[in-house]
Amino acid sequence: MSVTRLDIHHLRNIASLRLDLSAQTNLFHGPNGSGKTSVLEAVHLLSLARSFRTTQHRHYITNQQPQSTLFAQIDVDGTRVPLGFQRCSDGELSIRVDGERVDTVTSLAEQLPIQLINADTFLLLEGSPAIRRQYIDWGGFHAEPRFLATWKAVRRCLKQRNSLLKHGRMDPSVRAAWDQELVRQAEALDSYRAAYLQALIPRFENLLAELLPLDSLELQYYRGWDRKSPLDEVLAAGLERDCQQGFTHAGPQRADLRFKIDGAVASERLSRGQQKLVVSALKLAQGFLLQEQKGRRCVYLIDDLPAELDRNHRQRLCRLLEQMNTQVLITSTDADAFEGCWHTDTEVRSFEIRQGALAKNHVNGS
Ligand SMILES: Nc1ncnc2c1ncn2[C@@H]1O[C@H](COP(=O)(O)OP(=O)(O)OP(=O)(O)O)[C@@H](O)[C@H]1O
Ligand SMILES: [Mg+2]
Repeated sequence: MSVTRLDIHHLRNIASLRLDLSAQTNLFHGPNGSGKTSVLEAVHLLSLARSFRTTQHRHYITNQQPQSTLFAQIDVDGTRVPLGFQRCSDGELSIRVDGERVDTVTSLAEQLPIQLINADTFLLLEGSPAIRRQYIDWGGFHAEPRFLATWKAVRRCLKQRNSLLKHGRMDPSVRAAWDQELVRQAEALDSYRAAYLQALIPRFENLLAELLPLDSLELQYYRGWDRKSPLDEVLAAGLERDCQQGFTHAGPQRADLRFKIDGAVASERLSRGQQKLVVSALKLAQGFLLQEQKGRRCVYLIDDLPAELDRNHRQRLCRLLEQMNTQVLITSTDADAFEGCWHTDTEVRSFEIRQGALAKNHVNGS
């Protein structure tokens, strides 16, 4: 799976830009503020219908323009599938997959799975548990067809239970019915997450060993409630507190991944570069697993890859991306940052972006 052509209209400082991409490595370089990250943002919008930089569309639609419009030709096992995205300044969103208008972004994410590595990726280590749940759930969504429906059912049950808790008096039979359904769905969700992580963690450890040997790093899954107790018992034992505070304390909505080094929280011990390599290994592990389990490849968007990494570690990361044989879009202010990083048989297309336009492009040393 790769994006063969990308058309961007009125996204940030890009008025109109057409890019013919390599199915392997694409490097975007140019000065600060030239529009490199905006190219990655375009692919992200085409995959998920939301930006990774803002929750408000008015920030990415070019000033004074009525809408941002994006098109991509994607190659899915030799078949060309066109994707279209348009966001108007009044908020209206239109998404097209293969010429058909679709209502949910789920079909986009399925057609074009992406992985983003940028400065926010550090939050996988140091941010809130919600970010790590999102990471696990990306895997669950792609690995298990029943995942999304189960995830939605858990959310619905919790919303209902929390609203009953907030209203103070709760009919015990109504609560029991919701608890029963919540427990059933929560256990299913936990089993999908646990199965995914059981497959993922060894991949992650192998990749990390190639990037940065860190034998003492431990990764543990916390399911959101005590490992030894069934959820129905935990809910019953916590009912008084849940009623007092008006929400459900235990359950899959509290799941987390815990990173430890010698018993301490890993983000407190790792250098910035080490953290970047750990989060990169986490993101690469998901891509490798998607290929192994589903035969599908995701597109990697890597913003400012050279930042925090010395030449040796840059090269190691590039080598793993080559091994994955997947499409990669990388930004860097420095055109020479990747010298010696790629094998000569990897197709590397370089695009120089200046003031939202393509200044130059070339393939491998041409
Ligand atoms: N809504 C908007 N309308 C017009 N221009 C915008 C809008 N939002 C941002 N910009 C401009 O678009 C450019 C976006 O640049 P982008 O973040 O893609 O740059 P970059 O090449 O990644 O830079 P850096 O190397 O600093 O990361 C900036 O110059 C910014 O000022
Ligand atoms: Mg940038």
